[in-house]
Amino acid sequence: MSTASRLPQIAGRLIARLPRTVDASVRRLAVASLVGQTLLVVTGGAVRLTASGLGCPTWPRCTDTSLVNTPEMGIHGFIEFGNRLLTFALAAVALAMLVYLWNLRRERRDLFLLALGLLASIPAQAVIGGITVLTNLNPWVVGLHFLVSMALVVIATLLVNRAYGRTGRHATVQLPALPGVMRPVAAAVGLFSALAVMLGVVVTGSGPHAGDADAPATASIGTCSPTSMPFRRT
Ligand code: HEM
Repeated sequence: MSTASRLPQIAGRLIARLPRTVDASVRRLAVASLVGQTLLVVTGGAVRLTASGLGCPTWPRCTDTSLVNTPEMGIHGFIEFGNRLLTFALAAVALAMLVYLWNLRRERRDLFLLALGLLASIPAQAVIGGITVLTNLNPWVVGLHFLVSMALVVIATLLVNRAYGRTGRHATVQLPALPGVMRPVAAAVGLFSALAVMLGVVVTGSGPHAGDADAPATASIGTCSPTSMPFRRT
């Protein structure tokens, strides 16, 4: 029998080995997803704050002639390309999570859909990251890149909580009941936090680029812009 004709058999055997309950491996992968998404925020911030955003001046290749950074591009090329590479590590974890949840895709549809959302959003983030570069770090595009990243951290957090049975229909952990008044308070905290993050993005885009003092500010709200009172910069 040829290897090709044995493929369905091999795949069937592998699928049979995948977990049928939410076990330690599924939980570990959920935590790895959350850690990875959080790490990308830190490394993305490092790209920005070290002025390495254009360390690779184009996308999807690093330069017109090279797929990867070259020694002549120095530390900025290294930092930016390193950040691009981390995306693959994150995608590998997201793919592994989805594979591990395969046998649970009906029973734990919630986990499967969250994992699918995480995996699908990674190429989307890669494209937005690419547009960030191709638009010379336009603050609106950088802002979108950042906001999508925040949404991914939220999705990964939901995945961890549900994998550990803390929340959702399949919750197994009995958490201490909070006073009823805490519900609207928690909702308000969530709402205002999201608002603060969005306003923070606009405010950041209104100033000079964090990693490049010469980059012009382009974002403005109404008559308040970096070139008008009361937010005039000197
Ligand atoms: C899942 C994958 C990714 C995530 C979660 C992610 C997330 C982030 C975050 C949170 C920042 C910081 C933004 C800020 O501080 O305002 C950032 C910066 C950046 N990312 Fe990504 N990123 C991803 C993939 C990529 C890819 C593939 C590229 C490819 C070009 C890229 C290009 C950039 C650039 C150039 C910056 C710096 C922007 C600047 O200097 O203002 N990112 N990323």
